[in-house]
Amino acid sequence: MSETRKLSSYELVLDPKPAAHFGVGAVSKVGELAAAQGAKSALIITDPFLGASPICAEVRGSLEAAGLAVSVFDGVTPNPTTACVDAGSDAGAAAKCDILIALGGGSSMDTAKGVSLGAVNPERGVALDYSTEFKNSGIPIIAIPTTAGTGSEVNAFGVITDEITHKRFYVGHSSALAKAAILDPKLTVGLPAKATAATGMDALVHATESYISARPNPYSDGIALQVVEMVSQNIVTACTKGDDIEARSQMLLASHIAGVGFSHTGLGLVHGIGHALGGQFNIPHGVALCLVLEEVLKFNLPHRVSRFARLAFALGVGDTAKNDAQNADAAIARIAELVKQVGLKGKLSDFGITHENLSSLANDAVEDAVTNNNPVAPTREQVIAIMEKTL
Ligand SMILES: NC(=O)c1ccc[n+]([C@@H]2O[C@H](COP(=O)([O-])OP(=O)(O)OC[C@H]3O[C@@H](n4cnc5c(N)ncnc54)[C@H](O)[C@@H]3O)[C@@H](O)[C@H]2O)c1
Ligand SMILES: [Fe+2]
Repeated sequence: MSETRKLSSYELVLDPKPAAHFGVGAVSKVGELAAAQGAKSALIITDPFLGASPICAEVRGSLEAAGLAVSVFDGVTPNPTTACVDAGSDAGAAAKCDILIALGGGSSMDTAKGVSLGAVNPERGVALDYSTEFKNSGIPIIAIPTTAGTGSEVNAFGVITDEITHKRFYVGHSSALAKAAILDPKLTVGLPAKATAATGMDALVHATESYISARPNPYSDGIALQVVEMVSQNIVTACTKGDDIEARSQMLLASHIAGVGFSHTGLGLVHGIGHALGGQFNIPHGVALCLVLEEVLKFNLPHRVSRFARLAFALGVGDTAKNDAQNADAAIARIAELVKQVGLKGKLSDFGITHENLSSLANDAVEDAVTNNNPVAPTREQVIAIMEKTL
């Protein structure tokens, strides 16, 4: 039986994404792009490290040179919380800004989506959930990723942790989709090896989960295979030789187009468990994904043998003399090897997780909307069994 539905049974909307300006040095365009939106007052949304960095100074300089007033909210935390979004929303409302510059990794870009809505609407906390009908459209965003992994610049939702329940939920609205993105590989050169590894593996997981998802399509398939090839060929160099601008360029564009691909398919159980681990234990996103990646892929394997076999060729380990089952095994083995090579092999217990925590983590994972796109719907017990293997 075919592993996926016939294309003739699909209805697809291949929706436009923000114009993405890629190139070494492209960050200098931010002022001109903001002015082209008719903006007069910008609020940069970023984290404390980047807020104090020359990257933020360059962004500010470009905006000011284009005639905009500039203020900065630098209160973004990794795995951003409702408190972080609420503080940013208050800052946005006080600044009376008419454009937001989301500068940083997924945490800053996701926070900016919440702020975009919160600054012009009364909702706060979990009420900024994407299912809310907001009275006012969000403040326009220009997104500038400084990590290569999340692809958050191409979608309209952000993953936020509810401070009270420690569950992750999705803020967002179609108006919170960035109006433009700037992809400047130079900005990612200073990203430390461990963060390069974690964010780069996030992009690989986006492509892999999109490719094996419950509703893949030829548009996202082409993207996913290309991303898997680009990441698997460049992630080790990007980690070990951080100033290799070609490897950085490959990783940044791969991350971006992976985001375009998965916005047409959704993700899967690796992200379902990863979000639960991020929400309850504040583990960095890409690190959390790598903890359970191999075991989730093995769980999904029987439902996607021929797709895993094709992934083997994108990963550079396919062998035409072997059958699909052998190539599929080789694909998973290669992904597991990449996790090791970039230094992200670990156990849940390394983060203080014990058997007692698994039930609550499994509850959050099966309830997460991303898990609906897994090729097969997992039970709570199956999710617990997957996590037991990596405890
Ligand atoms: N919306 C989406 O589509 C989507 C997709 C995947 C992940 N996410 C979310 O994104 C978040 C993770 O984002 P992330 O992995 O990019 O990490 P991050 O934004 O949390 O950044 C990680 C660290 O890297 C530092 N950093 C960022 N850029 C740097 C640079 N150029 N030089 C030096 N240091 C730099 C930051 O200061 C921070 O300390 C998670 O909350 C995750 O759930 C969202
Ligand atoms: Fe992700």
